Amino acid sequence: MAKQLEDSFQRKFYYLRLSVTDVCNFKCTYCLPDGYQPADQKKPSFLTLDEIHRVTAAFADCGTTKVRITGGEPSLRRDFTDIIRTVASQPGITKVATTTNGYRMAKHVHEWRQAGLTHINVSVDSLDPKMFYQITGENMFHQVMEGIDAAFDAGFEQVKINTVLLKDLNSQELPKFLEWIKTRPIQLRFIELMQTGEMDSLFSKHHVSGVSIRNHLIANGWLLKVKDNNDGPAQVFYHPDYLGEIGLIMPYEKNFCESCNRLRVSAKGKLHLCLFGEDGVELRDLLADDSQQSQLIERIQASLQTKAVSHFLDEGKTGMTPNLASIGG
Ligand code: GTP
Ligand code: 5AD
Ligand code: SF4
Repeated sequence: MAKQLEDSFQRKFYYLRLSVTDVCNFKCTYCLPDGYQPADQKKPSFLTLDEIHRVTAAFADCGTTKVRITGGEPSLRRDFTDIIRTVASQPGITKVATTTNGYRMAKHVHEWRQAGLTHINVSVDSLDPKMFYQITGENMFHQVMEGIDAAFDAGFEQVKINTVLLKDLNSQELPKFLEWIKTRPIQLRFIELMQTGEMDSLFSKHHVSGVSIRNHLIANGWLLKVKDNNDGPAQVFYHPDYLGEIGLIMPYEKNFCESCNRLRVSAKGKLHLCLFGEDGVELRDLLADDSQQSQLIERIQASLQTKAVSHFLDEGKTGMTPNLASIGG
């Protein structure tokens, strides 16, 4: 086993976010408002199954225990089920997760589960079908809801839902969301809107902090849950009267990056040390065959030493990230 991944601020990295495509079929106002635009005319070449196997093996060898398959929309890959199987077959990887817009779940989630998927996160920005359409550009609310039911059917004990908090759009829906999770084992996470490079006035119009929701929860008997070392950035609250949980992802809060435990690999094989701020380190040349695993691990380890202490989002920096689909969120 190689050395455990640790940066120069003594943060340890157990969680890999592996993007497998940057293509998406939704047009979320905060992400791809004009839909996916290919970067060039040439067909984009995303990591192959073999490359995914090698990069996952290198991370697992360095102590990574959880891999989240992201996109764009990862289930747009025709070989998505094989990708899950490849990641799940890796010794040491105990959590195989994905984050999806949910449009393919109703049909395929059973198959994903059988291939080894252990955790699933789905974006649902509104419980009102019309508002869902307004925010995502797709009239798929009911299809996504069916997908969530299918996930429970397939044996997932909990489904996590991501809701980007948007002032004047979905910010009035808290009571509805609370009602929804009362009898369902859903962890609903409100995510503060993050300003990305391509975002226009949307941020100033719709950004709203999660603080008032947190205050409301605490005042109403919700309690903060203790975290695992490969958990994501949400502060999770539970309540004895609710089967579901509420999470808050507040990247503008001071010290957000102190608990960073994750690294990213883009769909084209670049290592990103942060969601924001840098161009990424090329790994692809070392993914071509099985003989370069030790160089691959060395490059990952060496790059990690340059990881910055924070994303500096609170200082208005969006870095090189045009939208979150480009790097897997
Ligand atoms: P769990 O692993 O299930 O806890 O999920 P997660 O929150 O790590 O993953 P998910 O893909 O569902 O991401 C939810 C939101 O958190 C997305 O908007 C991500 O962009 C955001 N997020 C995840 N990691 C980071 C991070 O390191 N920095 C910032 N700023 N946002 C992040
Ligand atoms: N700010 C906050 N969350 C975002 N997501 C995508 N773009 C942004 C943004 N600018 C969320 C999606 C999805 C998750 C992977 O990232 O809603 O749930
Ligand atoms: Fe697609 Fe997710 Fe971006 Fe929405 S947030 S456009 S579903 S990648």
